[in-house]
Amino acid sequence: MKILVIGGGNMGLTYAQSFIRSHITSETDMMILEKSAEKAADLRLKDIGTIYTDPEDCLSRADLVILAVKPQDSLSLFETLKPYVSDQQVFLSIMAGVKIATIQKGLGITKVIRAMPNLPARIGMGMTTFTSAPDVTRIELVMAQNLINTTGKTIYLDNEEAIDATTAISGSGPAYVFFFMHAMMEAAREMGFSESESELLVSQTFKGAVDLYEKSNYSCQEWIARVASKGGTTEAALASYREGTLHKDIKSGAMAALVRAQELGKNK
Ligand SMILES: NC(=O)c1ccc[n+]([C@@H]2O[C@H](COP(=O)([O-])OP(=O)(O)OC[C@H]3O[C@@H](n4cnc5c(N)ncnc54)[C@H](OP(=O)(O)O)[C@@H]3O)[C@@H](O)[C@H]2O)c1
Repeated sequence: MKILVIGGGNMGLTYAQSFIRSHITSETDMMILEKSAEKAADLRLKDIGTIYTDPEDCLSRADLVILAVKPQDSLSLFETLKPYVSDQQVFLSIMAGVKIATIQKGLGITKVIRAMPNLPARIGMGMTTFTSAPDVTRIELVMAQNLINTTGKTIYLDNEEAIDATTAISGSGPAYVFFFMHAMMEAAREMGFSESESELLVSQTFKGAVDLYEKSNYSCQEWIARVASKGGTTEAALASYREGTLHKDIKSGAMAALVRAQELGKNK
């Protein structure tokens, strides 16, 4: 199966590299289309398949086309691709907010899968949700899922609107975690730890807590109860969080991201 990744940026390269590294495809079957000649020249120095700058040279040979350009570039991209597409090809889009119907109309094709990855896909720890148009066959869907699985974990969603909701949880989520980590690192610095000590204290604490959570059957609330003994230090911190509005703020941040994802989707 020939794969063409369109857009050799952060996510496009993450996908191409993951597929090759996991041997789910070979370098000979991987093509990347990048519009900037300068970037294309840089990409040719890496072992990630054949690099093109013109869709005419590669698009018609692809069985699966991955759309990995910025959402704001999607309409002009559709114009350049349209003369070379075929209705037998499967299009997998990771463009935030760009609806399946928009891609179908823009390219004049029917087989579209829409996915929402997140940044940890770079290290094979991504969380991706995806959905598909009715014309995508079961076999094509499984093939796409096998590819996306090389970047982390996946959930198939029946309802396309739920993709926007996951954009607000798993898509933007890594930034929420970094926000919390940053605040904890600042607190550690204020207590007198060096920058590197603060980073280690906080990142290892996050890693350990998430691993512990994943390897047990306890809920977050149950784990909190296990760490916080009565009258102890954790309880003092939690009491301070509860006095403020942290819990509510975290939820309203995710809701604000959802509203924004829906707004962006309306324009596309
Ligand atoms: N980064 C994330 O964490 C993340 C998470 C979820 C979803 N996504 C989605 O992934 C997509 C890509 O994001 P990114 O962060 O990888 O963006 P990026 O680093 O800017 O990569 C996009 C690449 O596409 C190229 N490009 C633009 N128009 C093109 C065209 N007509 N033909 C060929 N190449 C073209 C751009 O070149 P120029 O720079 O020269 O314009 C750039 O190299 C976005 O739609 C985003 O919504 C990203």
